[in-house]
Amino acid sequence: MAVERTLSIIKPDATKRNLTGKIVAKFEEAGLRVVASKRIHLTAAQAGAFYAEHKERGFYGELVAYMASEPVVVQVLEGEGAILKNREVMGATDPAAAAAGTIRKEFALSKGENSVHGSDSEAAAAREIAFFFSGLELVG
Ligand code: TYD
Ligand code: MG
Repeated sequence: MAVERTLSIIKPDATKRNLTGKIVAKFEEAGLRVVASKRIHLTAAQAGAFYAEHKERGFYGELVAYMASEPVVVQVLEGEGAILKNREVMGATDPAAAAAGTIRKEFALSKGENSVHGSDSEAAAAREIAFFFSGLELVG
């Protein structure tokens, strides 16, 4: 399997509850390495642009307001099959449906306040990494 990079966000519900370290530990235990990281507070416009693929969905307004409500930690994770591995460690979108041991099962509050974001494809990973990080911030 190829070494990949994927974009991860530790969302407002998790940063607010000081869970950043516990969540990063889950990624590291799964063999993913943090190769870029920063804490930022998104504007609603930035959150809306990031989630533009969902703009016709009923939950979009709430999602955008939530993502701009508190700081987030955005990270690039690297490893063998990182895109799928990250999604596996995150668990299902709705914590009620997430498998035991996943981040969302352990930490998420609800389907909306679900602690983490992870890119869902190679194309999404490339786009989302470029959304948050410049070439200078990405060590080869
Ligand atoms: P989605 O990309 O479907 O989920 P995932 O984060 O697992 O890739 O949706 C993006 C986010 O939108 C999701 O993490 C939480 C929010 N959301 C809701 O609030 N309600 C919903 O019914 C869905 C599908 C998503
Ligand atoms: Mg998604």
